[in-house]
Amino acid sequence: MLTFEYRNLLQSELIPTAIPESYIHNYSHACKQANEEIKSDRQAGILGFYDLPDQDTSHILNFIESLDPKYNTMVVLGIGGSALGNKALYSALKTEHNLDKKLFVYDNVDPVFLFEILDQINLDTTIFNVISKSGTTAETMAAYLIIADLIKKRYPRDYKNRLIITTDKEKGFLRKLCEKEHYPSFVVPDNVGGRFSVLSDVGLVSSAFTNINIQKLLQGAASMRDRCADLTNIYDNPAYLNGLLHYLYFREGKNITVMMPYSNALYDLADWYRQLWAESLGKRYDLKRREILVGQTPVKALGATDQHSQIQLYTEGPYDKVITFLSVLNFQYDYTIPNLHPESEDVSYLGGHKLSELLNAERLATEIALTKAKRPNANIIFPQIDEFHLGEFIMMYEIQTVFTGKLLNINPLDQPGVEAGKKATYALMGKPGYEKEREEIEQYLQKSGKK
Ligand code: PA5
Repeated sequence: MLTFEYRNLLQSELIPTAIPESYIHNYSHACKQANEEIKSDRQAGILGFYDLPDQDTSHILNFIESLDPKYNTMVVLGIGGSALGNKALYSALKTEHNLDKKLFVYDNVDPVFLFEILDQINLDTTIFNVISKSGTTAETMAAYLIIADLIKKRYPRDYKNRLIITTDKEKGFLRKLCEKEHYPSFVVPDNVGGRFSVLSDVGLVSSAFTNINIQKLLQGAASMRDRCADLTNIYDNPAYLNGLLHYLYFREGKNITVMMPYSNALYDLADWYRQLWAESLGKRYDLKRREILVGQTPVKALGATDQHSQIQLYTEGPYDKVITFLSVLNFQYDYTIPNLHPESEDVSYLGGHKLSELLNAERLATEIALTKAKRPNANIIFPQIDEFHLGEFIMMYEIQTVFTGKLLNINPLDQPGVEAGKKATYALMGKPGYEKEREEIEQYLQKSGKK
Protein backbone atom coordinates (compact mmCIF):
# COMPACT_ATOMS: atom_id res chain seq x y z
CA MET A 1 0.00 0.00 0.00
CA LEU A 2 1.03 3.63 -0.46
CA THR A 3 2.95 5.16 2.43
CA PHE A 4 2.30 8.75 3.33
CA GLU A 5 5.29 10.32 5.09
CA TYR A 6 3.99 13.50 6.69
CA ARG A 7 6.55 14.13 9.45
CA ASN A 8 8.11 17.09 7.64
CA LEU A 9 4.74 18.78 7.45
CA LEU A 10 4.66 19.00 11.25
CA GLN A 11 6.65 21.17 13.59
CA SER A 12 9.81 19.56 14.91
CA GLU A 13 13.33 20.44 15.86
CA LEU A 14 14.12 20.22 12.14
CA ILE A 15 11.30 22.53 11.02
CA PRO A 16 10.34 24.72 13.97
CA THR A 17 8.25 26.91 11.65
CA ALA A 18 6.00 24.06 10.47
CA ILE A 19 2.41 23.54 11.61
CA PRO A 20 2.41 22.51 15.30
CA GLU A 21 0.89 19.11 15.89
CA SER A 22 -1.50 20.68 18.40
CA TYR A 23 -3.34 22.33 15.48
CA ILE A 24 -4.52 18.90 14.41
CA HIS A 25 -6.29 18.55 17.73
CA ASN A 26 -7.52 22.15 17.60
CA TYR A 27 -9.16 21.45 14.28
CA SER A 28 -10.74 18.17 15.28
CA HIS A 29 -14.19 19.76 15.42
CA ALA A 30 -13.84 21.21 11.89
CA CYS A 31 -12.62 17.82 10.66
CA LYS A 32 -15.53 16.04 12.31
CA GLN A 33 -17.94 18.41 10.65
CA ALA A 34 -16.27 17.99 7.24
CA ASN A 35 -16.45 14.22 7.68
CA GLU A 36 -20.16 14.40 8.57
CA GLU A 37 -20.84 16.57 5.53
CA ILE A 38 -19.02 14.12 3.27
CA LYS A 39 -21.06 11.27 4.73
CA SER A 40 -24.34 13.08 4.14
CA ASP A 41 -23.28 14.12 0.62
CA ARG A 42 -22.49 10.47 -0.09
CA GLN A 43 -25.88 9.43 1.20
CA ALA A 44 -27.51 12.08 -0.97
CA GLY A 45 -25.64 10.58 -3.94
CA ILE A 46 -23.65 13.75 -4.61
CA LEU A 47 -20.15 12.27 -4.37
CA GLY A 48 -20.44 9.55 -6.99
CA PHE A 49 -16.69 9.02 -7.30
CA TYR A 50 -16.72 7.18 -3.96
CA ASP A 51 -18.88 4.45 -5.50
CA LEU A 52 -16.88 3.92 -8.67
CA PRO A 53 -14.71 1.12 -7.22
CA ASP A 54 -17.87 -0.99 -6.82
CA GLN A 55 -19.10 -0.65 -10.39
CA ASP A 56 -19.60 -3.53 -12.78
CA THR A 57 -17.05 -3.16 -15.56
CA SER A 58 -18.25 -6.02 -17.73
CA HIS A 59 -19.68 -3.64 -20.36
CA ILE A 60 -16.18 -2.20 -20.83
CA LEU A 61 -14.37 -5.53 -20.87
CA ASN A 62 -16.94 -7.07 -23.23
CA PHE A 63 -16.64 -4.14 -25.59
CA ILE A 64 -12.84 -4.32 -25.65
CA GLU A 65 -13.06 -8.08 -26.17
CA SER A 66 -15.43 -7.58 -29.11
CA LEU A 67 -13.08 -5.24 -30.97
CA ASP A 68 -11.32 -6.39 -34.08
CA PRO A 69 -7.76 -7.17 -32.87
CA LYS A 70 -6.38 -5.10 -35.74
CA TYR A 71 -7.13 -1.97 -33.68
CA ASN A 72 -3.91 -1.24 -31.84
CA THR A 73 -4.27 2.49 -31.21
CA MET A 74 -6.82 4.67 -29.46
CA VAL A 75 -6.96 8.43 -29.72
CA VAL A 76 -8.94 10.19 -26.99
CA LEU A 77 -10.54 13.47 -28.02
CA GLY A 78 -11.33 15.29 -24.79
CA ILE A 79 -10.05 17.99 -22.48
CA GLY A 80 -9.61 18.63 -18.74
CA GLY A 81 -11.29 15.93 -16.68
CA SER A 82 -12.12 14.11 -19.91
CA ALA A 83 -8.46 13.66 -20.79
CA LEU A 84 -5.96 14.13 -17.96
CA GLY A 85 -6.77 10.91 -16.11
CA ASN A 86 -6.48 8.85 -19.31
CA LYS A 87 -3.08 10.33 -19.96
CA ALA A 88 -1.91 9.86 -16.38
CA LEU A 89 -2.81 6.17 -16.28
CA TYR A 90 -1.32 5.37 -19.65
CA SER A 91 1.92 7.27 -18.97
CA ALA A 92 2.30 5.59 -15.60
CA LEU A 93 1.70 2.06 -16.78
CA LYS A 94 2.82 1.84 -20.38
CA THR A 95 6.41 0.92 -19.63
CA GLU A 96 5.72 -1.07 -16.51
CA HIS A 97 3.56 -3.49 -18.48
CA ASN A 98 5.10 -3.13 -21.90
CA LEU A 99 1.64 -2.32 -23.17
CA ASP A 100 1.32 -3.33 -26.78
CA LYS A 101 -1.53 -0.94 -27.52
CA LYS A 102 -0.96 2.77 -27.93
CA LEU A 103 -2.93 5.70 -26.57
CA PHE A 104 -2.81 9.28 -27.78
CA VAL A 105 -4.77 12.06 -26.10
CA TYR A 106 -5.64 15.06 -28.20
CA ASP A 107 -6.62 17.55 -25.49
CA ASN A 108 -6.11 20.85 -27.23
CA VAL A 109 -7.08 22.62 -30.40
CA ASP A 110 -3.52 23.17 -31.50
CA PRO A 111 -3.49 22.23 -35.21
CA VAL A 112 0.17 21.20 -35.17
CA PHE A 113 -0.47 18.86 -32.25
CA LEU A 114 -3.28 17.23 -34.25
CA PHE A 115 -1.00 16.93 -37.24
CA GLU A 116 1.65 15.24 -35.10
CA ILE A 117 -0.81 12.66 -33.78
CA LEU A 118 -2.26 11.93 -37.21
CA ASP A 119 1.25 11.66 -38.54
CA GLN A 120 2.18 9.00 -35.97
CA ILE A 121 -0.89 6.77 -36.17
CA ASN A 122 -2.13 4.36 -38.78
CA LEU A 123 -5.74 5.37 -39.39
CA ASP A 124 -6.63 1.82 -40.48
CA THR A 125 -5.89 0.46 -37.01
CA THR A 126 -7.07 3.37 -34.85
CA ILE A 127 -10.20 3.92 -32.79
CA PHE A 128 -11.21 7.41 -31.69
CA ASN A 129 -12.84 7.92 -28.28
CA VAL A 130 -14.70 11.24 -28.03
CA ILE A 131 -15.13 12.07 -24.34
CA SER A 132 -17.20 14.97 -23.09
CA LYS A 133 -19.60 14.93 -20.17
CA SER A 134 -21.48 18.00 -21.38
CA GLY A 135 -21.23 16.89 -24.98
CA THR A 136 -20.72 20.49 -26.03
CA THR A 137 -17.17 21.59 -25.14
CA ALA A 138 -15.84 23.56 -28.12
CA GLU A 139 -12.35 22.01 -28.16
CA THR A 140 -13.66 18.46 -28.12
CA MET A 141 -16.43 19.19 -30.61
CA ALA A 142 -13.94 20.73 -33.04
CA ALA A 143 -11.74 17.63 -32.77
CA TYR A 144 -14.76 15.36 -33.22
CA LEU A 145 -15.90 17.25 -36.35
CA ILE A 146 -12.48 16.98 -37.98
CA ILE A 147 -11.99 13.31 -37.12
CA ALA A 148 -15.55 12.25 -37.97
CA ASP A 149 -15.23 13.93 -41.35
CA LEU A 150 -11.88 12.25 -41.93
CA ILE A 151 -13.01 8.72 -41.11
CA LYS A 152 -16.35 9.05 -42.85
CA LYS A 153 -14.53 9.95 -46.04
CA ARG A 154 -11.85 7.28 -45.64
CA TYR A 155 -14.10 4.46 -44.41
CA PRO A 156 -17.61 5.28 -45.69
CA ARG A 157 -18.85 1.76 -44.95
CA ASP A 158 -17.46 1.09 -41.50
CA TYR A 159 -16.65 4.47 -39.93
CA LYS A 160 -19.05 3.62 -37.10
CA ASN A 161 -16.63 0.95 -35.86
CA ARG A 162 -13.90 3.52 -35.56
CA LEU A 163 -15.45 6.06 -33.24
CA ILE A 164 -16.86 5.64 -29.76
CA ILE A 165 -18.47 8.26 -27.57
CA THR A 166 -18.35 8.75 -23.81
CA THR A 167 -20.86 11.31 -22.55
CA ASP A 168 -23.89 11.99 -20.36
CA LYS A 169 -26.49 9.22 -20.47
CA GLU A 170 -29.26 11.54 -21.71
CA LYS A 171 -28.17 15.10 -22.36
CA GLY A 172 -26.05 16.92 -24.90
CA PHE A 173 -25.16 16.87 -28.56
CA LEU A 174 -23.00 13.75 -28.30
CA ARG A 175 -25.76 11.64 -26.76
CA LYS A 176 -28.12 12.71 -29.55
CA LEU A 177 -25.44 11.84 -32.05
CA CYS A 178 -25.07 8.35 -30.56
CA GLU A 179 -28.78 7.82 -30.89
CA LYS A 180 -28.80 9.00 -34.48
CA GLU A 181 -25.63 7.35 -35.76
CA HIS A 182 -25.49 4.35 -33.38
CA TYR A 183 -21.88 4.81 -32.38
CA PRO A 184 -20.86 2.55 -29.47
CA SER A 185 -21.21 4.67 -26.37
CA PHE A 186 -20.24 4.90 -22.72
CA VAL A 187 -21.56 7.00 -19.88
CA VAL A 188 -20.19 9.67 -17.57
CA PRO A 189 -22.30 9.23 -14.42
CA ASP A 190 -24.47 12.24 -13.47
CA ASN A 191 -23.01 12.48 -10.00
CA VAL A 192 -19.35 12.32 -11.08
CA GLY A 193 -17.76 15.58 -12.22
CA GLY A 194 -15.15 15.65 -14.99
CA ARG A 195 -12.06 15.87 -12.79
CA PHE A 196 -13.36 13.10 -10.50
CA SER A 197 -14.25 10.80 -13.39
CA VAL A 198 -11.05 8.92 -14.20
CA LEU A 199 -12.32 5.74 -12.54
CA SER A 200 -15.57 5.81 -14.54
CA ASP A 201 -15.99 4.86 -18.22
CA VAL A 202 -14.08 8.11 -18.92
CA GLY A 203 -10.73 6.64 -17.87
CA LEU A 204 -11.49 2.93 -17.86
CA VAL A 205 -12.30 2.39 -21.53
CA SER A 206 -8.98 3.71 -22.82
CA SER A 207 -7.19 1.93 -19.97
CA ALA A 208 -8.80 -1.43 -20.71
CA PHE A 209 -8.04 -0.91 -24.39
CA THR A 210 -4.33 -0.56 -23.62
CA ASN A 211 -4.46 -3.70 -21.42
CA ILE A 212 -4.29 -1.89 -18.11
CA ASN A 213 -5.94 -4.07 -15.47
CA ILE A 214 -8.93 -1.94 -14.53
CA GLN A 215 -10.10 -4.34 -11.82
CA LYS A 216 -6.85 -3.88 -9.95
CA LEU A 217 -7.14 -0.12 -10.38
CA LEU A 218 -10.56 -0.22 -8.76
CA GLN A 219 -9.32 -2.56 -6.02
CA GLY A 220 -6.64 -0.05 -5.12
CA ALA A 221 -9.20 2.75 -5.07
CA ALA A 222 -11.53 0.67 -2.86
CA SER A 223 -8.74 -0.07 -0.46
CA MET A 224 -7.86 3.64 -0.11
CA ARG A 225 -11.55 4.49 0.28
CA ASP A 226 -11.68 2.07 3.24
CA ARG A 227 -8.51 3.52 4.68
CA CYS A 228 -9.98 7.03 4.47
CA ALA A 229 -13.49 6.24 5.66
CA ASP A 230 -12.91 6.92 9.30
CA LEU A 231 -11.93 9.84 11.52
CA THR A 232 -11.25 7.91 14.72
CA ASN A 233 -7.58 8.61 14.24
CA ILE A 234 -6.79 11.16 11.54
CA TYR A 235 -3.22 9.84 11.30
CA ASP A 236 -4.66 6.64 9.82
CA ASN A 237 -6.51 8.61 7.17
CA PRO A 238 -3.95 10.02 4.72
CA ALA A 239 -6.52 11.92 2.64
CA TYR A 240 -7.95 13.80 5.62
CA LEU A 241 -4.57 14.37 7.25
CA ASN A 242 -2.99 15.72 4.07
CA GLY A 243 -6.12 17.76 3.35
CA LEU A 244 -6.09 19.32 6.81
CA LEU A 245 -2.37 20.09 6.67
CA HIS A 246 -2.66 21.68 3.24
CA TYR A 247 -5.64 23.70 4.47
CA LEU A 248 -3.63 24.91 7.48
CA TYR A 249 -0.65 25.78 5.31
CA PHE A 250 -2.88 27.69 2.93
CA ARG A 251 -4.24 29.63 5.91
CA GLU A 252 -0.64 30.43 6.86
CA GLY A 253 0.15 31.87 3.43
CA LYS A 254 1.55 28.81 1.68
CA ASN A 255 -0.29 29.59 -1.52
CA ILE A 256 1.63 27.15 -3.69
CA THR A 257 1.62 23.38 -3.52
CA VAL A 258 4.21 21.53 -5.53
CA MET A 259 3.91 17.91 -6.57
CA MET A 260 7.26 16.50 -7.53
CA PRO A 261 7.36 12.89 -8.71
CA TYR A 262 10.79 11.26 -8.86
CA SER A 263 9.61 9.19 -11.78
CA ASN A 264 8.90 10.25 -15.35
CA ALA A 265 6.05 7.75 -15.46
CA LEU A 266 4.25 9.62 -12.68
CA TYR A 267 4.71 13.10 -14.16
CA ASP A 268 1.31 13.14 -15.88
CA LEU A 269 -0.27 12.11 -12.59
CA ALA A 270 0.95 15.44 -11.21
CA ASP A 271 -0.90 17.09 -14.11
CA TRP A 272 -4.07 15.24 -13.19
CA TYR A 273 -3.62 16.41 -9.59
CA ARG A 274 -3.05 20.00 -10.74
CA GLN A 275 -6.47 20.15 -12.34
CA LEU A 276 -8.18 18.42 -9.42
CA TRP A 277 -6.71 20.78 -6.82
CA ALA A 278 -6.95 23.98 -8.87
CA GLU A 279 -10.42 23.62 -10.31
CA SER A 280 -11.96 22.19 -7.16
CA LEU A 281 -10.50 24.56 -4.58
CA GLY A 282 -9.82 27.79 -6.47
CA LYS A 283 -13.04 29.61 -5.60
CA ARG A 284 -14.22 33.17 -5.26
CA TYR A 285 -17.21 32.55 -3.01
CA ASP A 286 -17.91 30.38 0.00
CA LEU A 287 -21.14 28.45 0.41
CA LYS A 288 -22.87 31.57 1.75
CA ARG A 289 -21.82 33.57 -1.34
CA ARG A 290 -19.30 35.62 0.64
CA GLU A 291 -16.28 36.57 -1.41
CA ILE A 292 -13.28 34.64 -0.03
CA LEU A 293 -10.90 34.13 -2.99
CA VAL A 294 -9.31 30.86 -1.89
CA GLY A 295 -7.18 28.13 -3.44
CA GLN A 296 -3.59 26.99 -3.51
CA THR A 297 -1.79 27.09 -6.84
CA PRO A 298 -0.67 23.56 -7.70
CA VAL A 299 2.64 23.30 -9.49
CA LYS A 300 4.29 20.22 -10.92
CA ALA A 301 7.99 19.51 -10.96
CA LEU A 302 9.99 16.47 -11.98
CA GLY A 303 12.72 14.91 -9.90
CA ALA A 304 15.63 14.80 -10.46
CA THR A 305 15.36 16.97 -13.60
CA ASP A 306 13.89 20.02 -11.88
CA GLN A 307 16.50 19.98 -9.13
CA HIS A 308 18.46 21.84 -11.77
CA SER A 309 15.62 24.23 -12.51
CA GLN A 310 13.22 24.73 -9.58
CA ILE A 311 14.87 23.62 -6.35
CA GLN A 312 16.89 26.80 -5.94
CA LEU A 313 13.60 28.69 -5.72
CA TYR A 314 11.94 26.14 -3.48
CA THR A 315 14.88 26.12 -1.08
CA GLU A 316 15.71 29.81 -0.93
CA GLY A 317 12.72 31.68 -2.35
CA PRO A 318 9.63 32.90 -0.50
CA TYR A 319 8.14 30.74 2.24
CA ASP A 320 5.02 30.19 0.17
CA LYS A 321 5.15 26.49 -0.79
CA VAL A 322 4.33 23.02 0.47
CA ILE A 323 6.10 20.28 -1.46
CA THR A 324 4.95 16.71 -1.99
CA PHE A 325 7.37 14.19 -3.43
CA LEU A 326 6.17 11.04 -5.14
CA SER A 327 8.76 8.33 -4.89
CA VAL A 328 9.03 4.77 -6.15
CA LEU A 329 10.83 1.95 -4.35
CA ASN A 330 11.04 -0.66 -7.10
CA PHE A 331 11.32 0.27 -10.74
CA GLN A 332 10.35 -2.14 -13.48
CA TYR A 333 13.62 -1.57 -15.31
CA ASP A 334 16.94 -0.57 -13.87
CA TYR A 335 20.55 -0.11 -14.88
CA THR A 336 23.76 -0.52 -12.96
CA ILE A 337 26.13 2.35 -13.53
CA PRO A 338 29.45 0.87 -14.73
CA ASN A 339 32.71 1.80 -13.09
CA LEU A 340 34.32 2.89 -16.33
CA HIS A 341 36.87 5.25 -14.76
CA PRO A 342 37.99 3.77 -11.40
CA GLU A 343 40.94 6.14 -11.34
CA SER A 344 38.74 9.24 -11.34
CA GLU A 345 37.17 10.49 -8.11
CA ASP A 346 34.86 12.64 -10.23
CA VAL A 347 32.81 9.69 -11.46
CA SER A 348 34.01 6.47 -9.79
CA TYR A 349 31.69 6.97 -6.76
CA LEU A 350 28.75 6.34 -9.11
CA GLY A 351 30.10 3.00 -10.35
CA GLY A 352 28.23 -0.06 -9.14
CA HIS A 353 25.14 1.85 -8.04
CA LYS A 354 21.77 1.41 -9.71
CA LEU A 355 20.19 4.38 -11.51
CA SER A 356 17.14 3.97 -9.24
CA GLU A 357 19.43 4.24 -6.21
CA LEU A 358 20.81 7.50 -7.52
CA LEU A 359 17.30 8.82 -8.23
CA ASN A 360 16.06 7.96 -4.74
CA ALA A 361 19.24 9.33 -3.15
CA GLU A 362 18.61 12.59 -5.00
CA ARG A 363 15.06 12.70 -3.69
CA LEU A 364 16.24 12.18 -0.14
CA ALA A 365 18.94 14.79 -0.61
CA THR A 366 16.31 17.27 -1.79
CA GLU A 367 14.09 16.41 1.17
CA ILE A 368 17.01 17.03 3.52
CA ALA A 369 17.93 20.31 1.83
CA LEU A 370 14.34 21.56 1.94
CA THR A 371 13.90 20.50 5.54
CA LYS A 372 17.13 22.26 6.52
CA ALA A 373 15.78 25.34 4.79
CA LYS A 374 12.57 24.94 6.86
CA ARG A 375 10.34 24.16 3.91
CA PRO A 376 7.44 21.80 4.73
CA ASN A 377 7.48 18.67 2.62
CA ALA A 378 5.80 15.28 2.40
CA ASN A 379 6.53 12.07 0.57
CA ILE A 380 4.12 9.56 -0.93
CA ILE A 381 5.87 6.26 -1.53
CA PHE A 382 4.79 3.84 -4.26
CA PRO A 383 6.22 0.37 -3.51
CA GLN A 384 6.04 0.03 -7.30
CA ILE A 385 4.08 1.62 -10.10
CA ASP A 386 1.09 -0.58 -10.81
CA GLU A 387 -2.67 -0.39 -11.10
CA PHE A 388 -3.37 -1.00 -7.44
CA HIS A 389 -1.18 1.84 -6.20
CA LEU A 390 -2.44 4.24 -8.88
CA GLY A 391 -6.01 3.43 -7.84
CA GLU A 392 -5.05 4.17 -4.24
CA PHE A 393 -3.43 7.46 -5.20
CA ILE A 394 -6.40 8.63 -7.26
CA MET A 395 -8.90 7.87 -4.52
CA MET A 396 -6.71 9.46 -1.85
CA TYR A 397 -6.48 12.75 -3.73
CA GLU A 398 -10.15 12.83 -4.70
CA ILE A 399 -11.16 12.38 -1.06
CA GLN A 400 -8.50 14.84 0.10
CA THR A 401 -9.76 17.45 -2.36
CA VAL A 402 -13.37 17.18 -1.23
CA PHE A 403 -12.33 17.19 2.43
CA THR A 404 -10.22 20.33 1.94
CA GLY A 405 -13.14 21.92 0.10
CA LYS A 406 -15.32 21.26 3.15
CA LEU A 407 -12.74 22.87 5.45
CA LEU A 408 -12.61 25.88 3.14
CA ASN A 409 -16.41 26.00 3.15
CA ILE A 410 -16.60 26.06 -0.63
CA ASN A 411 -18.16 23.83 -3.26
CA PRO A 412 -15.31 21.66 -4.61
CA LEU A 413 -17.53 20.17 -7.31
CA ASP A 414 -18.36 23.22 -9.42
CA GLN A 415 -16.21 25.30 -11.78
CA PRO A 416 -17.93 28.62 -12.57
CA GLY A 417 -14.63 30.12 -13.72
CA VAL A 418 -14.24 27.43 -16.40
CA GLU A 419 -17.83 27.87 -17.53
CA ALA A 420 -17.21 31.62 -17.99
CA GLY A 421 -14.33 30.88 -20.38
CA LYS A 422 -16.42 28.30 -22.25
CA LYS A 423 -19.19 30.87 -22.76
CA ALA A 424 -16.75 33.51 -24.01
CA THR A 425 -15.37 31.02 -26.54
CA TYR A 426 -18.87 30.18 -27.77
CA ALA A 427 -19.59 33.91 -28.14
CA LEU A 428 -16.34 34.57 -30.01
CA MET A 429 -16.95 31.69 -32.38
CA GLY A 430 -20.53 32.84 -33.09
CA LYS A 431 -22.56 30.12 -31.33
CA PRO A 432 -26.28 31.11 -31.24
CA GLY A 433 -27.58 32.01 -27.77
CA TYR A 434 -24.42 33.85 -26.73
CA GLU A 435 -25.22 37.25 -28.22
CA LYS A 436 -25.06 39.06 -24.86
CA GLU A 437 -21.56 37.67 -24.18
CA ARG A 438 -20.59 38.64 -27.74
CA GLU A 439 -21.65 42.24 -27.04
CA GLU A 440 -19.56 42.31 -23.87
CA ILE A 441 -16.57 41.01 -25.81
CA GLU A 442 -17.05 43.72 -28.48
CA GLN A 443 -17.02 46.35 -25.73
CA TYR A 444 -13.88 44.82 -24.26
CA LEU A 445 -12.15 44.82 -27.65
CA GLN A 446 -13.02 48.48 -28.17
CA LYS A 447 -11.96 49.57 -24.69
CA SER A 448 -8.68 47.70 -24.90
CA GLY A 449 -7.87 49.25 -28.27
CA LYS A 450 -7.92 45.91 -30.05
CA LYS A 451 -10.60 47.12 -32.45
O1 PA5 B 1 -13.59 18.88 -14.29
C1 PA5 B 1 -14.32 19.42 -15.09
O2 PA5 B 1 -15.56 19.46 -14.94
C2 PA5 B 1 -13.79 20.05 -16.35
O3 PA5 B 1 -12.41 20.11 -16.38
C3 PA5 B 1 -14.26 19.27 -17.56
O4 PA5 B 1 -13.78 17.96 -17.46
C4 PA5 B 1 -13.76 19.90 -18.87
O5 PA5 B 1 -14.14 21.24 -18.92
C5 PA5 B 1 -14.34 19.15 -20.06
O6 PA5 B 1 -15.73 19.13 -20.00
P1 PA5 B 1 -16.58 18.10 -20.82
O7 PA5 B 1 -16.26 16.74 -20.32
O8 PA5 B 1 -18.00 18.47 -20.55
O9 PA5 B 1 -16.21 18.27 -22.26
